[in-house]
Amino acid sequence: MSADFCGLELAHPIINASGTFDAIAARRAFGEELIERFPFSAFVSKTVTLAPRQGNPPPRLWELPAGLMNSIGLPNKGLEGYLAHDLPELARLPVPLIVNVMGFSRDEVARLVSAFAARDEVAALELNVSCPNVETGLVMGTDPDEVARLLAAVRPLTAKPLIVKLTPNASDVTAVARAAEQAGASAVSLINTIKGMAFHPLTGEPWLGGHTGGVSGPAARAIALAQVHAVSAAVSIPVIGMGGVQSGRHAADLRRAGATLVAVGTESFRDPAAGLRIAAEIRAFSYDAP
Ligand SMILES: Cc1cc2nc3c(=O)[nH]c(=O)nc-3n(C[C@H](O)[C@H](O)[C@H](O)COP(=O)(O)O)c2cc1C
Repeated sequence: MSADFCGLELAHPIINASGTFDAIAARRAFGEELIERFPFSAFVSKTVTLAPRQGNPPPRLWELPAGLMNSIGLPNKGLEGYLAHDLPELARLPVPLIVNVMGFSRDEVARLVSAFAARDEVAALELNVSCPNVETGLVMGTDPDEVARLLAAVRPLTAKPLIVKLTPNASDVTAVARAAEQAGASAVSLINTIKGMAFHPLTGEPWLGGHTGGVSGPAARAIALAQVHAVSAAVSIPVIGMGGVQSGRHAADLRRAGATLVAVGTESFRDPAAGLRIAAEIRAFSYDAP
């Protein structure tokens, strides 16, 4: 069940989805046991931005019958804070570290990529392109040309694998994936959350502090499967599939749709050992079993 991903030899194909597993907090809660039995074969950090961010005002969560909607708003310590505080701790994990970055302009992304290109602790970078480019007003990941221009700016800055994290909120995710591949992306990952909304039951105003939020969990699974299937057929670079994975069967479905690796997100909130369980289940799962 080992997996070769962009030159990284991983013990199995199950990794975490960015922002859904805080390895530093988990180490405090579970101690050395977490390191000895780390649930994922690579660790993807929460999104890092150039400047520190407080995130969105509360409320930040709304539970759905089959999932979760969040408008966390990417709170983080910013590049300097991450390098000083988080990177040394995450570098001690027993698996390769993938750092997820996001910028509000190509220049910001370029500065983040350059900073991490210089760090041996970082095995690969994931570009979160689900945010607007303040220079063009376009959400980078919804427009193939925006993604191509972004890759043209950052690809020359590092030899490390660059994973483009695609948003399902694009009208044609395969066109964006192809543009990323042609501009030098090493891999694509998908899906990020799907845009959603809920109203306050008493006032009728938007419930979430950010007004809209991102839908994840089982509600996203069928959409993820269709998009991973379409993107895998459209590109020849590796695909990381995610969206609503709760079991080995769900992970096997995404692999059958073409994903090399499968990321577990929302399920880790319900079951912090979900990564270990799903990695064991996918080993045992076979479509050919009677
Ligand atoms: C609470 C929460 C926080 C998230 N934070 C990030 C983030 O910082 N960066 C990112 O690229 N995706 C983030 N995501 C999206 C997930 O990485 C993943 O793409 C999405 O949730 C679909 O997978 P899932 O259904 O297994 O959760 C977040 C999702 C949730 C639920």
